[in-house]
Amino acid sequence: MTPDAPLALLAELTHRCPLRCPYCSNPLELAKASEELGTDEWARALREAAELGCLQVHLSGGEPTARRDLPDIVAAARAAGLYTNLITAGVTLDAAKLEGLVAAGLDHVQLSVQDAQAEGAERIGGLRGAHARKREAARLVMAAGLPLTVNAVVHRQNLHNLPALIELALEWGAGRLEVAHVQYHGWALANRAALLPTRAMLEEATRTVDAARGRLNGRLVIDHVVPDYHAVRPKACMGGWGRRFLAISPRGDILPCHAAESIPGMVFPNVRDKSLRDAWTHAEAFNRFRGTAWMPAPCRGCAHAERDWGGCRCQAAALLGDAAQTDPACALSPHHAMLREALDAAGETAFAYRG
Ligand code: SF4
Ligand code: FES
Repeated sequence: MTPDAPLALLAELTHRCPLRCPYCSNPLELAKASEELGTDEWARALREAAELGCLQVHLSGGEPTARRDLPDIVAAARAAGLYTNLITAGVTLDAAKLEGLVAAGLDHVQLSVQDAQAEGAERIGGLRGAHARKREAARLVMAAGLPLTVNAVVHRQNLHNLPALIELALEWGAGRLEVAHVQYHGWALANRAALLPTRAMLEEATRTVDAARGRLNGRLVIDHVVPDYHAVRPKACMGGWGRRFLAISPRGDILPCHAAESIPGMVFPNVRDKSLRDAWTHAEAFNRFRGTAWMPAPCRGCAHAERDWGGCRCQAAALLGDAAQTDPACALSPHHAMLREALDAAGETAFAYRG
């Protein structure tokens, strides 16, 4: 059966990044600049994504502005008819760079923040002076007339600052705030004990978001989803494997999920020798967990199977060593207790940073 068209492509242009967030979702082994796809290869991949049915491209990394050819890549996406969203840490986005991106047709900017105040934010992100540069980046985005989303990654060491993060998003001019709880695979798993929030912290955050949504209706949209370790059912990660999204890594691997390279033993097609359509439709990596036929018990036959698609394959691989098992975030998983044990063991304060 031919799968439906994907909605969006996540284009991971580079793994280079000036920050060192302890929950980074990039692979443990990063691609070198010399291994990255070239401008023409990205332009072809973007055309193929549009022909396949994608409507949007999220230009991400690493830090995508580390690439000098970013305006050419934005222009190629625009020429292909894609809506272009830049996902940036903002610390290297100066006026000249933004002007080039606007001229190339950039549609939207998503700016990450590590905390509400400079001291905490710069300790978490590992870069002095970053917070003020982000504020300036937000000011430039507003001055350019582009819509802005602030992406606040939240965890044990900053969740108490959620009211201030909401104020920051308003002050910086964002129309949307994503309150994004850390996902625990890759580097974040190594820092899990320092990052997992308590149940009481989550409940307070939920009350804060509910109150702010009521108060700020029409001024700021706030996205907030209960994180896996406190949930009863898992999220439909990626909207289901091979259903809505695809990603391309800096080296050109075509992935069903940005973290799919963390699953041992999987082989991915590459844009240098496969078309996106061929990969999306026929590649074993996309078909392996597509739909419900692959599901084991208790997912098989479960009433939620076509709602959450068995949860997250990368999390099952990271926690159970087997991507083909039910996500342990589900209370019906025989391994669900391991999440409670991780919550009980949390409480460290020191982060392990990339070297
Ligand atoms: Fe979802 Fe599987 Fe849990 Fe059912 S058993 S709720 S399909 S993860
Ligand atoms: Fe890869 Fe959830 S992060 S499927």
